[in-house]
Amino acid sequence: MDHSGTTPIDPRVLEAMMPFLTEKFANPSSIYTEGREVRAALDTARLQTAKAIGAAPEEITFTSGGTESDNLGIKGIALGRKEKGGHIITTTIEHHAVTHTVDYLGENGFDVSFLPVNKYGQVELETLEKEIRDNTILISLAYGNNEIGTIQDMKDIVKLAHEKNALVHTDAVQAVAKIPIDVKDLGVDLLSLSGHKIYGPKGIGALYARKGLKLAPVQHGGGHEKNLRSGTENVAGLIGLGKAMEIGKAGLTTEIPRVKAMRDRLIKGMLAELDDSYLNGHPEKRLPHNAHFRFSYIEGEALLLNLDMMGIIASTGSACSSKSLKASHVLLAIGLTPEQAHGSLRLTLGKGNTDEDVDTVLEAVPKVVKKLRAMSPLGHGGGK
Ligand SMILES: Cc1ncc(COP(=O)(O)O)c(C=O)c1O
Repeated sequence: MDHSGTTPIDPRVLEAMMPFLTEKFANPSSIYTEGREVRAALDTARLQTAKAIGAAPEEITFTSGGTESDNLGIKGIALGRKEKGGHIITTTIEHHAVTHTVDYLGENGFDVSFLPVNKYGQVELETLEKEIRDNTILISLAYGNNEIGTIQDMKDIVKLAHEKNALVHTDAVQAVAKIPIDVKDLGVDLLSLSGHKIYGPKGIGALYARKGLKLAPVQHGGGHEKNLRSGTENVAGLIGLGKAMEIGKAGLTTEIPRVKAMRDRLIKGMLAELDDSYLNGHPEKRLPHNAHFRFSYIEGEALLLNLDMMGIIASTGSACSSKSLKASHVLLAIGLTPEQAHGSLRLTLGKGNTDEDVDTVLEAVPKVVKKLRAMSPLGHGGGK
């Protein structure tokens, strides 16, 4: 129940990768036959990645994952378009790969704005319109939020941004292979994606950048990836990413309704069984695999540990790395108090889940919540 955290490698992805971890080890930059063979396989992976999101292969730059794609997309545009202005907009609910990158640019001479969102975690067009200035070069916002699952009205946002000559970068790490994505239809200028969220390997990802965009490199060296991202390619990882993208896109028509039905049953069942329980995020405009709850009078950490002992893996609202006890900035941004944010539970479904898992969770979570409430110094004392 933590597929937004990470996913296991699909056996078909592993099978495609294996030769490139063993006998096909040549450097793709080598001009002898073995090198050229590996280069051809990388070209296929680039094509698979591009096709899955409606892009052209030359618009794909391979990176080490979602974090690097966000860094390259945002810093690359900021440095590459400096002459056009220095104002960058993002939101208060982004992943730290985006917020900390924008913070860094703010500390280094750029003007940055963090847009508030409404109670569902959506950017409102009027708020965005007021914030866009003559020197706004880039707006960066996730397509599907990694915590509460809210999906932005991206086409409207892009239309508004383009009318005002600003580019749009979207972190689609949580949306790719979960909902259909066509970059040309969405109109975004840049899009980040990551391998390990889509049944591919960890440490691999890609940045889509619309043809003709001027980006500055973030990592310098031998000039790989059209000089945008130097370093000998993670060949096996890239082969795995290409395969995972292909499989992910092909499976959408069956996987979306399957996962959504389980997700809806989870939400309905949980809210019916427990009083003082709420759904975080947008009720409809949300990623099909995401159910994010808030239960009053309990601590998310205690809930997680109890579920862990029962073999249920989930995530809570106390920062993405559960090492920190700080309330999630996303939950605070949608208007929750720190206490409310601490009582959150994120369940994210995926390929490994079945209807029986949903039954198990619907039995376990209310039981644990009631037990914790009965012991809670915060009041309540159990009950429904
Ligand atoms: C929305 C979002 N962006 C970026 C990342 C970082 O991706 P990676 O782990 O591939 O660096 C994550 C991972 O949790 C994410 O959920």
